[in-house]
Amino acid sequence: MLNLTGLFAIPGSVEKVEPYGNGHINQTYLVTADCGRYILQRINDSIFTDVDGLMHNIHAVTEYLAASDPDPRHVLRIVPARDGGTYIRNDKGCWRLYNFIENSLCLEKVGTAQDFETSAFAFGDFQRRLKQFPASTLTETIARFHDTPDRYRIFREALEKDPLGRAKDVQPEIEFALEREKDAGIMMGMLKKGELPLRVTHNDTKLNNVLLDAETRQPLCVIDLDTVMPGLAGNDFGDSIRFGATTGAEDERDLSKVNFSMPFYEAYARGFLRGCGADLTSAELQTLPMGAKLMTLECGVRFLTDHILGDTYFRIHRENHNLDRCRTQFKLVQDMEGRMDDMLQVISRLSGRI
Ligand SMILES: Nc1ncnc2c1ncn2[C@@H]1O[C@H](COP(=O)(O)OP(=O)(O)O)[C@@H](O)[C@H]1O
Ligand SMILES: [Mg+2]
Repeated sequence: MLNLTGLFAIPGSVEKVEPYGNGHINQTYLVTADCGRYILQRINDSIFTDVDGLMHNIHAVTEYLAASDPDPRHVLRIVPARDGGTYIRNDKGCWRLYNFIENSLCLEKVGTAQDFETSAFAFGDFQRRLKQFPASTLTETIARFHDTPDRYRIFREALEKDPLGRAKDVQPEIEFALEREKDAGIMMGMLKKGELPLRVTHNDTKLNNVLLDAETRQPLCVIDLDTVMPGLAGNDFGDSIRFGATTGAEDERDLSKVNFSMPFYEAYARGFLRGCGADLTSAELQTLPMGAKLMTLECGVRFLTDHILGDTYFRIHRENHNLDRCRTQFKLVQDMEGRMDDMLQVISRLSGRI
C-alpha cells in the first residue's frame, strides 16, 4: 500500500486502510489513523482524463464552501499532499485524501419521499451556497456533459454507422427520439441568449452523494464532487427527477411498472426549492419541468446510441440491456409530457413566484 503519512499531511500514524462504500466510479478506502479517519480515493482517470482540472474544481469549491461554514462535517476537505499539491500521482494512478465525515449515513436508493426530499434540500442548498461563485472559472471535467443537441449529433452518427445492423430493430425508439430532437436545444439556447444563468452544478445528484447525520437524518454534506462544473440549475434538478421520480428500476423490462411519480416529483421540488428557490430566477423556475424531461430524454438517447454502437460505454449484464434502459427513459418522457402543466403548477405553488 501507499506510504500515506509520507505522501499526505497526516499528523499521526496510519493504523488501517480498508475498502469502503459502494461507489462505482472511484476506488474508495477508509483510512484509520491515530489522529482521525480519512477517505482515500484512487481517482478514475480513464473517465476523468484532466485530473488537474478536476482537482482544481474540487479545491476551489470546497475552500469556498468551508469559508462560510467551518464545521468539518459540513464540507468535504482535501488533505494536502506533502508536496503541496491536492493529489498525488504514482505508477498506480492518482490519489487524493479527504476528511472522513463522522457519524454519517449514506442512503443507496430512493426509499421514501422524505429521504428524496432531504437529498433535494442538500443539492438545492449546495446550489444556493455557490450562487456567488464564478461558475465560468471551473473546468468542464467532462466536455459537453449535458449538451443535449450534441448528444443528438452523436446519436445521428451512430445511426449512420449502425455497425451491428441494430437500427432496423429499434425503429419505434429511433422515431421517438427524432420526434423530440427539436426540444433538445431549448435550455442551451436560453443559456446562449442570456435568459438562463450559468451556475455551479453538481451533475451527479444521486441520493448516495449526500451524507446524512446518522442521528437526525438531516443532510450534512454533499460529496462526490468530480463532476462539479458550470451548468444549468434545471439540469441538476432534472437528473434527480429522472432517476428518483419513477416507480420502476432504470432497466425494468415491464414498462407497465415504470411510471412517472408525481408525489416523488413534488417531494424533490419541495426540498430543492427550500434549498435554493429564492435564488433561482423566474426563468429558471419555469424551466425545471423541462429540465426533468430533457435530462430523461438525453439519457434515453444515450442508452439508445450505446445499444446501436454495440454497448461500448454503459456496461451491460444481459442482452439488450441498454435498449431496456432506453425504453424506461422514453416511457418516463412520455409520462412527463402528459403532465408538464401539473409539473409547472407544483413549482408555481411551492415557489409562490411564477
Ligand atoms: N468524506 C467522506 N466521508 C464519509 N464517507 C464518504 C466520504 N467520501 C465518500 N464516502 C463514502 O464513499 C462512497 C463513494 O464515494 P464517492 O466519492 O461518492 O465515489 P464514487 O464517485 O465512486 O461514487 C460514498 O457513497 C460514501 O458512502
Ligand atoms: Mg458517489
